[in-house]
Amino acid sequence: YMIDKGNHRHFMEKEIYEQPEVISHALGHYVNFIDNRVLPVSEVIDFAEVPSLAISACGTAYLAGLVGKYWFERYARLPVEIDVASEFRYREIPLTPQSAALFISQSGETADTLASLRYCKEHGLKIGAVVNTRESTIARESDAVFPIFAGPEIGVASTKAFTCQLAVLAALAIAAGKARGTISDAEEQAMVRSLAEMPRLMGQVLNSIQPKIEFLSRELSKCRDVLYLGRGTSFPLAMEGALKLKEISYIHAEGYAAGELKHGPIALIDENMPVIVIAPHDRFFDKTVSNMQEVAARGGRIILITDEKGAAASTLDTMHTLVLPSVDEIVAPMIFSLPVQLLAYHTAVHMGTDVDQPRNLAKSVTVE
Ligand code: G6P
Repeated sequence: YMIDKGNHRHFMEKEIYEQPEVISHALGHYVNFIDNRVLPVSEVIDFAEVPSLAISACGTAYLAGLVGKYWFERYARLPVEIDVASEFRYREIPLTPQSAALFISQSGETADTLASLRYCKEHGLKIGAVVNTRESTIARESDAVFPIFAGPEIGVASTKAFTCQLAVLAALAIAAGKARGTISDAEEQAMVRSLAEMPRLMGQVLNSIQPKIEFLSRELSKCRDVLYLGRGTSFPLAMEGALKLKEISYIHAEGYAAGELKHGPIALIDENMPVIVIAPHDRFFDKTVSNMQEVAARGGRIILITDEKGAAASTLDTMHTLVLPSVDEIVAPMIFSLPVQLLAYHTAVHMGTDVDQPRNLAKSVTVE
């Protein structure tokens, strides 16, 4: 397998731009685009029968799992217990052996994630692994393996693995909803059709937002702190945005649930700290707009990442608005990941950091 950067300055950039292709490849293993149905997922994990699901992972994979929790609960009415693996493994969580557990890991070797897996196994749960590396320890020790087909990821900050994890989790949540009778055939087909459209839209976004991202990144590179806000599945995405930015640009960033703004971070708002709001025009949009008003009223500078419908609906005075195509709710986290990743990437490039090998971080953390 030849791995080079092609025409890109960094592996991270190459991996961001590879997403339409790899995600389409990944989806092809989980859905049938001819009849817009999900493919049968696993003979070992029977989503129709499990009373609950446990999910655990670290870093970016954990944030993918958090988006997955929203999907499994909403579409499959399946309660999800989720935690970062370093907590999960020690919490002495009461688990029922009839349940299943999902472990998400790009490398398949993260020590805490593996320990959480073994804990669940000892308690008799069926184990599923959402991994990029099928020969990994986590894959080997699992009952069912759900590969993400992202191809080798070299940049320490995860990008394409994240969106491929999301795509696989989306397909699994739809499959679970089907198995449990909580989504209809028509809903399944509508969601799969949206997923099928996604790679083309991702390509469109990647080809069009570069100039705006460049401009915003120059602004961000002058800042000491950045706050990211979102509701629903945009909340884990806000945390992912903050994680990416701090990892590679070393700018302090926090991701918060927009509704928690009042309970703390609002104290930090001033003209020096940009507030990046991730808000597709979904059922939370109006709530998030009122949070933005609270920010604006305190002189905060807002960078709004929304979609066409959101841009048309908002009359708010923002420092800048990035407009993405309007998509189905289940697709939004993948599409909105792109500006979030590119903002971190270009900010780091402006600051001259070692983008692919940020200080103190490792691609795979195999020690506790
Ligand atoms: C490290 C990497 C992250 C990654 C995390 C989990 O911290 O720098 O990018 O999200 O480990 O890794 P895994 O291989 O388990 O997904």
